[in-house]
Amino acid sequence: MGKTVATAETTYDTWHTDPQREKAMGDAHAPYWRHFIATVPETDLSTRTVMDFGCNRGGFLRLLYALRPFRRGVGIDIAADSVQAAEANKGALPVAYEVATDLAPWTDTIDIAFSYEVVYLLADLAGHAARMRSVLRDGGVYYAVTGCHTANPIWSSLREAIGAGSNAPLQDRSPDDYVETFHDAGFSVSVKRFGYDGFVAAPRDPRYYPSILDAIRYPGEDKLLFRLEKRG
Ligand SMILES: C[S@@+](CC[C@H](N)C(=O)[O-])C[C@H]1O[C@@H](n2cnc3c(N)ncnc32)[C@H](O)[C@@H]1O
Repeated sequence: MGKTVATAETTYDTWHTDPQREKAMGDAHAPYWRHFIATVPETDLSTRTVMDFGCNRGGFLRLLYALRPFRRGVGIDIAADSVQAAEANKGALPVAYEVATDLAPWTDTIDIAFSYEVVYLLADLAGHAARMRSVLRDGGVYYAVTGCHTANPIWSSLREAIGAGSNAPLQDRSPDDYVETFHDAGFSVSVKRFGYDGFVAAPRDPRYYPSILDAIRYPGEDKLLFRLEKRG
């Protein structure tokens, strides 16, 4: 594993309280990552340095590199065992996976940053927005996806189900809270529905999705993709 850059924020071994669920999450998220990558307008990353914030076991950057080879990548998380697994599985990928809460070592180095279902876990969103702005080069863009917000009609069941199995407290924020926080931190903010229209796993897990229509609507309509471009 690479160096550990941690400050006062808490780290843990795995995000799930049951470590076995950590790998299953990557497998379950893969179709959504594929859609995320296909949706982002930047397609030639060959000269770009990328960051995956909340990388867990590293699967997103492995898939991104396979589909859109990039120059260099960094994956950041506070789940130490998962970051260790990401490092162990990275093969020849030009990526460093790091346990970090302080992003200062990457100041002005990142062209495009990604996070998939991470921002709803961050107690200090304004601090996160400021840190992400400072890692981006001028004109850099941060793409953040989340369906975990208070305007999601199934937020209460989702919140309970996710919270019951994870080590980081969930935050209650509306889509407008995200918009305002990133705008105030110096980003030009735009947003779209995530728009996933592939097959969803069925039978659904009723703890997460009260009905199968909820399971279909969630990644298509309720999940949001924020495009956060660093303002000069
Ligand atoms: C729902 S999981 C998503 C993981 C991965 N992005 C994916 O798509 O499978 C949320 C991840 O965010 C990480 N995370 C939570 N708080 C964090 C923080 N302050 N800094 C970095 N990572 C964090 C968790 O440890 C966990 O790996």
